[in-house]
Parts: sequence; structure tokens; C-alpha cells
Amino acid sequence: MVAYAACIANPVLFMEENVASRLTSRKVPAVLPVAGILEDASKGLIEAPRSMPPKYFYDERGSQLFDAICETREYYPTRTEEALLQACARDVIEQLRPDHIVEFGSGTARKTRHLLDACDLAGETAAYWPFDVCEEMLQDSGQQLVQEYDWLQVNALVGDYLGGLAGLPPRDGRCLYLFLGGTIGNFTEDEAAAFLAEVRAIMRPGDGLLLGADRVKDTEVLQAAYNDDAGITAQFNLNLLQVLNRELDANFRDRNFEHRALFNQEASQIEMYLVSRCRQSVRIDALRRTLELEAGERILTEISRKFTPARLEALLKSAGFAIHSHFEPENGWFSLVLARPEAAPVTPS
Ligand code: AVJ
Repeated sequence: MVAYAACIANPVLFMEENVASRLTSRKVPAVLPVAGILEDASKGLIEAPRSMPPKYFYDERGSQLFDAICETREYYPTRTEEALLQACARDVIEQLRPDHIVEFGSGTARKTRHLLDACDLAGETAAYWPFDVCEEMLQDSGQQLVQEYDWLQVNALVGDYLGGLAGLPPRDGRCLYLFLGGTIGNFTEDEAAAFLAEVRAIMRPGDGLLLGADRVKDTEVLQAAYNDDAGITAQFNLNLLQVLNRELDANFRDRNFEHRALFNQEASQIEMYLVSRCRQSVRIDALRRTLELEAGERILTEISRKFTPARLEALLKSAGFAIHSHFEPENGWFSLVLARPEAAPVTPS
């Protein structure tokens, strides 16, 4: 009653209260051990072949640079996936009629809006559960969303989905899980299979998974996407050195490294490296170690696997999914697959 009176007297206040009550946030505890940057660096940097996991790209500057990559002429995945999602969103929502939409690695949740628009059209009022490590980004994008969609409940999940999914809060009703952007390509075959099996393990009959994955295509097109003319991908790659300097008290110098990205046809993946331009020593205080790098020595900073439709579907099937729909643009540059949990095999009694 009081709230109602207040809302007539002050519609803005009412808006704020209404909006705030539709945005919650909670931490998701890791149930699997996740290595920290110290452990990853000591495993990955001390000895050749050197590597770091790509998740360390995404500090504040790295996230901004990634957004800038998505705007470059050469980087086709984001806009290709977004157009595809826009085209198939209605289909997905009408097929699944989800009560909940859970997104792994939601970021700014830009693409998710197409699904929320489709919910709008279908008269569905699903709750949105964006799952991401960055609480600030979750707050900002969550606030935007509850303002844009007056029926929407946003329950932000703060955590690392690589730490397992068993700690997700319980939900009643049908769930649509989203893993978009082609991030599955950052995983090795085994890691991808393990992650999908984990998603499968928390799914119930009637749930769905919408998975975005980049496709094999002309080597020139692929390599250009990771070597944009404006050099933004190079800055994104080199920014990892600043993250290491800050987090590990290291003294990597940008100008002593060069960005390199190439398509490894045999492994069907883009490989991104930081290549040492000279013979150099790099001190990593937090590890109490000094790296000795030769000129031309490389640090692998990312793999981005490119799939054929057959390999993508095989990966999903091996993790216990049935393929419901496979969406692709005319040029076949990107896949969105709607997969459902395969019914448990009938065991003869
Ligand atoms: C966010 C992992 C999908 O692999 O294309 C873009 C990251 N790296 N340019 C990708 C990335 C360099 C991107 N993913």
C-alpha cells in the first residue's frame, strides 16, 4: 500500500524500487579445483613449450580491447553469430519455452537481447541467469536489462564456470543454457568434452543448450580475423604481458614481443603467440624465477578451434546430447546448435 502511494507521488522512485527488486546477485562457489594465475604461470611459462590460458586476457583493458576486436572489419564471428541468433531466436524460444536462461560467460549480454526479445514476442517471462567472473559487468548489464525488459528477473551469478556447475542455485522449470561466442573453441578437445559433459549433468529432460562455435573456412579469412589491420588483436594479445606484470610482479616489455596468429590446418585451430623479438631475460618476482627467452621463442596465449558441422555434432553427442537444430548462415561461417539431453539409454531388465 505504501509502495503504491509512493509510486503515484513519485514514479521515478517506484521505477527504481521495481527495477532493484528484479536484480539479484550471488556468488557461485567453485566445486572443482581451479588453478590461479600463479600456478598457471609456473606450469606454463617456466619451460618450453610456453603457454598461458586465454582467460587472463580479460582484465578491464583486455575486455575493452576484445569489444574493439568485435568491431573490426576482419573479425567476423561476433557479427555473424549475432545475425544468426537474431534469425533463430524465435525458433529456439518457441521450441523450448524456457522458464530460465542461464548464460556461461555472459559478458555485456549484448547478444542475449535477441533471445529476450523473442521471449517478449512469445509472451514468455523467463528469468535470466548471467554467469561471469566480473561482478561489476554483471551489475551494469543486469541493471540495463531489468530497465529494458519490465518483466525480466535477472539473477546474476558471480563465479568461474570452469570451477564447476554443481554449485549453481536450484531452479524449477525448463532451462535454456547458453554458451555463445565460440568460446568453446578456447578449449582443447578433452576440455570441451569435459565441460559439455558437466553441462549435460545438470540438465533435465526438456532443457536445452544453445552452443555457438566458429567454423573451418578459408585460411585467409581466418588469419585476417586474428591479424586485423588496425592492430587491435595485437594490442589485445600484448595486454597479457601487462596482466602478468601487475599480477606477478614481472617485468615483461611490450616492445620486446610481437603478436603472431596463424591457422594450424592440421589441428584446425587458430594459434596465437607472443614471440620474443630478441634474446632477453624476464624477471617474475612472484615466482622467484627469471625466464631466459631466445629471439623467436614463442609463448602460446590462445587456441581458437574451428569446427566442421560433423565434428561439432560428434562432440555434443559424445557428451550425451542429441542435436535438435543446427543453425548456420548461408556462407557456413558459424554454427549455433540447439542440443538437448539425450534420453538415458533404456537398460533391459
Ligand atoms: C572470445 C574466444 C571467441 O577465439 O575468436 C578474438 C577470442 N582472440 N581475437 C576467439 C579472440 C583473438 C575469441 N573468443
